[in-house]
Amino acid sequence: MRGLITVPSTGVENKFPGRQENPGFGSAFSFVTDPALFLKESIIKINLQNKVVVVTGASSGIGASLSVEMAKKGAALALIGRNSERLERVKKEVQHHTQDVSIFTCDVMDRQQVHDTVDLISRKFRRIDGLVYSSGIGLPTFYRNFESTHIEKIVRTNYFGLLYWIESTAPMMQAQKSGFIVGISSLAAHMTEKRVAGYTSSKAAVSNFLAGARKGFKKYGIQVITIEPGYVKTPMTAGNKKMIFPMEVEDAARSILKAIEKGKPVYRFPKTMAFFARFFECLPTAITAKF
Ligand SMILES: NC(=O)c1ccc[n+]([C@@H]2O[C@H](COP(=O)([O-])OP(=O)(O)OC[C@H]3O[C@@H](n4cnc5c(N)ncnc54)[C@H](OP(=O)(O)O)[C@@H]3O)[C@@H](O)[C@H]2O)c1
Repeated sequence: MRGLITVPSTGVENKFPGRQENPGFGSAFSFVTDPALFLKESIIKINLQNKVVVVTGASSGIGASLSVEMAKKGAALALIGRNSERLERVKKEVQHHTQDVSIFTCDVMDRQQVHDTVDLISRKFRRIDGLVYSSGIGLPTFYRNFESTHIEKIVRTNYFGLLYWIESTAPMMQAQKSGFIVGISSLAAHMTEKRVAGYTSSKAAVSNFLAGARKGFKKYGIQVITIEPGYVKTPMTAGNKKMIFPMEVEDAARSILKAIEKGKPVYRFPKTMAFFARFFECLPTAITAKF
C-alpha cells in the first residue's frame, strides 16, 4: 500500500515517489518517447467514467475519434467545433455509447466566444473534469511575398485557442481541486522544414507552454498531458502524399486514450517517428540546414 493514494474527487490513483510506474529498460526508445516515465515522475491515472470532458476539434479527425473512444469509457462529452453538421454526425456516433453528449459551436480564435461557450457548458453539465484541445489548422508557409497573416491564423487557432480554453476551464477545475488538460501538439514541435515553419512553430509553442503549465497547475490538482502524434490520416493531412509511418485515425485515438488513462505527462507516437523527431532536434545546424 505504500505510496498508493486514491484522490476521492477524481477516483484516480496517485502513485507517489518510491512506487511509480517505470517502463524499465525494455524499450530502447523510452528516454526519448516517454522521458517522464524514465525519470520516474509521479503518475496519476485518469478514470474517465462519469467525467465531464470538453473536446475541441471534435467535429473531425483526431478529436472526433477520441470523443467516441472516451464515450466508450463512460465520459460525458461537450463537443466543440464550428461546423454544426459535422458535430451532429459525431454526436450520433458518440450516442451509441452515451446519451450524455452535447454540441457547442465556437470559433476557438475568439476569446469571448470561448468564455461564453464554457459558461453554457458549465450550466449544462454543472462541472468540467477535463479539457482535450484538438482544434488545429496547418497552412503552408511561403517566402515569396512572405505574409505573417497566415502564421497568425495558425498560431491563434493552435496556440491562443488552447490558452483561451485553459483560461476559462481551469478556474472550475481549480475549485474542484481536480481535473486534466490534454493538448494535442505534434512531433512537428521538434523538427521544422521551410514549408511548414508556421505550423511547427505553433506546435513548439504548445508543447513548451504545456511543459511549464504541467508544473504550474500540479499544486491545484490539475494534470497536464501533452500528446505529440506523428502523421495521422485525417482531413488535415488528406492532400499529403509524403507521410512517414502514417496511422489510421482510430488507431491514433485509441493510443491517445490509453496515454490519457495512464496519465502519461508526455506521449509521443509512433515510437520510431518520435525517436527520429527527437534525434533530429539534437543534430548540428550544419546538418539540419540541408533539409
Ligand atoms: N493529422 C495529423 O497528422 C496530425 C499530426 C500531429 C498533430 N495533429 C494535430 O491534431 C489536431 C487535430 O488535427 P486533425 O488531424 O484531427 O485535423 P482535422 O481533421 O482537420 O480537425 C481539425 C479540427 O479543428 C477544428 N478547428 C479548426 N479551426 C477551428 C476554429 N477556428 N475554431 C474551432 N474549431 C476549429 C475543426 O473544426 P471545425 O472545422 O468544425 O471548426 C476540426 O474539428 C490538430 O491540432 C493537429 O495539428 C495532427
